[in-house]
Amino acid sequence: MTDAGGLIAFTAGLPKAELHVHIEGTLEPELMFALAKRNRIDIPFKTVDDVRAAYAFTRLQDFLDIYYEGAKVLRTEADFRDLAGAYFNRAAADNVRHAEIFFDPQTHTDRGIPFDVVMKGLLQAQDDARRTHGLTSKLILCFLRHLDEDAAFGTLDAAQPWLHKLAAVGLDSSEIGHPPRKFARVFAAASDMGLKRVAHAGEEGPPEYVREALDILNVHRLDHGNRALEDADLTARLARTAMTLTVCPLSNLKLCVVKDLETHPLPRMLAQGLRATINSDDPAYFGGYINDNYAAMAKAGSLDRGAFALLARNSFLGSFLGDAEVSAHLAALDAYLSRA
Ligand code: ADE
Ligand code: ZN
Repeated sequence: MTDAGGLIAFTAGLPKAELHVHIEGTLEPELMFALAKRNRIDIPFKTVDDVRAAYAFTRLQDFLDIYYEGAKVLRTEADFRDLAGAYFNRAAADNVRHAEIFFDPQTHTDRGIPFDVVMKGLLQAQDDARRTHGLTSKLILCFLRHLDEDAAFGTLDAAQPWLHKLAAVGLDSSEIGHPPRKFARVFAAASDMGLKRVAHAGEEGPPEYVREALDILNVHRLDHGNRALEDADLTARLARTAMTLTVCPLSNLKLCVVKDLETHPLPRMLAQGLRATINSDDPAYFGGYINDNYAAMAKAGSLDRGAFALLARNSFLGSFLGDAEVSAHLAALDAYLSRA
């Protein structure tokens, strides 16, 4: 085994949490075809290879257009259960012990799929994953930022019967032109309901959007956060406050947020004391699940075992698990490190 091979095997075995994965972004082309058939829906592709060939993006919006199109095959409770079930099985194989997954209810309710259908399907898959793999999970309801504040409030209303099943609200979709401040009142209302807050910021948007996510949305975690590094004061603040960044290397590469993984900012984030984590974002679209992301960074060459162990540690520290659960996961991680 080469050195990179040994490092990749080490990262694969690390117990870890995934904190940034869009469940709609785990829709593999094979399942897309199966659900299209089951629901008698036409999709604009003839073969799985056609679908994969269409996944060539130069920016976030190219991806989002195709991602919303793909989500149209999801119609029934069973569809959402099967989608999330497939993700959990895949994640368990990557030694993910806990996952905090995003879902985009507006992508479905705007097509006439009731909010309850989405929730019931996801909850079934969560229960199955806990029983089958001992994999725990939490749900994060994301608002689509290209839609308006009223639409987000409507979604928060629809979520009322399910509040006890939700950990947090998030903010995703087209970043540029849709700053966090657009959702100030929605996030304040979600906070009053006892929900935690996260937001995509600094993926394509400027450091100012990261500041707004912190100061206006009062987020507990930043999703991506790459462009925060352009601002030294902001970077120092993120380090000082131990703000978790959910970083997604293969996503960044596929969406041309970075030019290659050799110059990916992750090593700089760690060097500057940021609590960074590794995540898959939309693995069916970006060419890999969480261990593929760890492996790609291992191949890029600028992180060693200690750095990867820290990234796994950060994934539990940045989660919304309670202190006792975090401690148990960190003990399991330490046990792995003492054997590896
Ligand atoms: N929705 C799904 N993936 C996303 C990403 N990487 N950025 C913003 N919105 C998204
Ligand atoms: Zn994302």
